[in-house]
Amino acid sequence: GLRFLVLGSAAGGGLPQWNCNCSNCAAARDPSSGLQPQTQSSLAVSIDGETWAIFNASPDIRQQIQQTPHLHPKALRHSPIQSVVITNADVDHIGGLLTIREKQAFSLFSTAAIGSVLDASPVFRVLDPDFVARKTIRLDEDFSPLDGLEARIFAVPGKVALFLEDGEPELGLEGEQTIGVEFVANGKRAYYIPGCATLPDWLCERISGADLVFFDGTVFTDDEMIRVGTGIKTGQRMGHMPITGDDAGGGGSLEALSKLGIGRMVYVHINNTNPIWRQGPERDAVTEAGFEVGHDGMEIELA
Ligand code: MLT
Ligand code: MG
Ligand code: ZN
Repeated sequence: GLRFLVLGSAAGGGLPQWNCNCSNCAAARDPSSGLQPQTQSSLAVSIDGETWAIFNASPDIRQQIQQTPHLHPKALRHSPIQSVVITNADVDHIGGLLTIREKQAFSLFSTAAIGSVLDASPVFRVLDPDFVARKTIRLDEDFSPLDGLEARIFAVPGKVALFLEDGEPELGLEGEQTIGVEFVANGKRAYYIPGCATLPDWLCERISGADLVFFDGTVFTDDEMIRVGTGIKTGQRMGHMPITGDDAGGGGSLEALSKLGIGRMVYVHINNTNPIWRQGPERDAVTEAGFEVGHDGMEIELA
């Protein structure tokens, strides 16, 4: 069946973030708090448990491989990682490409738009083309990131990567910049959508009735970073719809997803400021609505 392994459940920066001492980050540095540190956004997928496709190469990929025996080399020079697929070009999803540069063969899948962002930075030439096969994937077409695994990408509302913003970016852009991934195997259907700005009707219909959805859980409330005092941006401005929200603000993912008859709903790409990291009313609201809070090392198999 389809096997999923959450390599990193935190948003850009991770938990704790290097320069943050908010209450969550402080707790994640305190072993007695019970809140474990969490690495940046990435998901591993396998059919046979032997070979894996990695969705997003986080700056923490070295640590993620180290803490995941499935991904350790099985010979002098070897990796169970057969491919890497990029869902957007933010640093938390591409930074790890610089770590896995050691003349190891794998396929690197991206849309043409995301590929051109990689091509525009000469540093990514460290990925030796004699070993790393760059493959362009098209929206709404099938591709095979692993032998025996069918997947399909589709545009979700998003924006260009943060480091490409030039003034106010277009929000809610539907194109090749931000994608979701659909997996189908053995009659099961699953989705990976770590960044998403809104849930329009077409997207709700698409994921309705799925067996499993990993979804953008960056912020619990749109103005969370402002209220915690760590930043001046809303979730919407960052291209991330909040978990909760009023209709005027476009609503929240919790209410929208809860109505769709999805088997398992897991929040990933969770920002360090998000109160769902810890026990409390916000986490209760999420779990009572049937969601799980993703964590590093979380394994889900759809048998
Ligand atoms: C985001 O998802 O908003 C990004 O990870 C921002 C960043 O690259 O730091
Ligand atoms: Mg991110
Ligand atoms: Zn923090």
